Amino acid sequence: MSLSGKVAIVTGGNSGIGKAVVLALAAAGANTVIDYVVDPDATEDLEKQIVALGDKTLAVQADVSKVSDLQMLVDKAVEAFGRVDIMVNNAGIETRTSILDTTEAQYERVMEVNLKSAFFGTQIAARQMIAQGGGGRIINMTSVHEDWPMPGNTAYCLSKGGMRMLTRTAGVELGPHGILVLGVGPGAVATPINASTMNDPGKLKTLDAAIPLGRLAQPEEIADVVAFLCGDGASYMTAATIFVDAGIMHSSPGL
Ligand code: BGC
Repeated sequence: MSLSGKVAIVTGGNSGIGKAVVLALAAAGANTVIDYVVDPDATEDLEKQIVALGDKTLAVQADVSKVSDLQMLVDKAVEAFGRVDIMVNNAGIETRTSILDTTEAQYERVMEVNLKSAFFGTQIAARQMIAQGGGGRIINMTSVHEDWPMPGNTAYCLSKGGMRMLTRTAGVELGPHGILVLGVGPGAVATPINASTMNDPGKLKTLDAAIPLGRLAQPEEIADVVAFLCGDGASYMTAATIFVDAGIMHSSPGL
């Protein structure tokens, strides 16, 4: 599969699943725009890996919870590469707090970073795709928890549930423009968001035991699916979420 000549933006692109997505899209030949907020050193290291693959890349520091930063991100991509073919709304956080003690600030931050950024990221990228013509792909990094309750992480589940309907509704609305909108719903992945579980052998054992394949995913196993969804093979898919969870959501309560 080749994404040669395509331009892809990945929000939260310098760590975890986002970083693996940047590398997978670059490996398929796309020029990538890496959005990040913290850790310029990790971003620089990633840029070097991409240049070694023979692709072009641009890192942009932008807080995607702000619409003005999202607009700036898309503008910089167009300035550097002339177009945007793929938008991956990947940035995400969770608080792991009960509904009983989640604060207003925690609630707002989760909703802004996860859901508001995906809504306006979709809007701004779609406007650019329509202006340039030729359609495009918008990938929303959701979670098994767009559908499956995770007690103790209610705000996160709410944001992912919102992304589920964003994917479906925007997919229907943007279909006539040739813009395909797809959700990717990972289960438990070995990334910084799961650091507290991975650093606790007891919790990790319980989590592994709940997963039919017996282990967390590596970020690359999610990124490869994203790359497929951005390519020609996924030309008849839109308004749906593809779960990449080794069956976890059918086997236990959210962990
Ligand atoms: C959450 C993780 C959780 C996993 C499986 C992910 O979306 O970020 O904290 O372990 O789902 O429940």
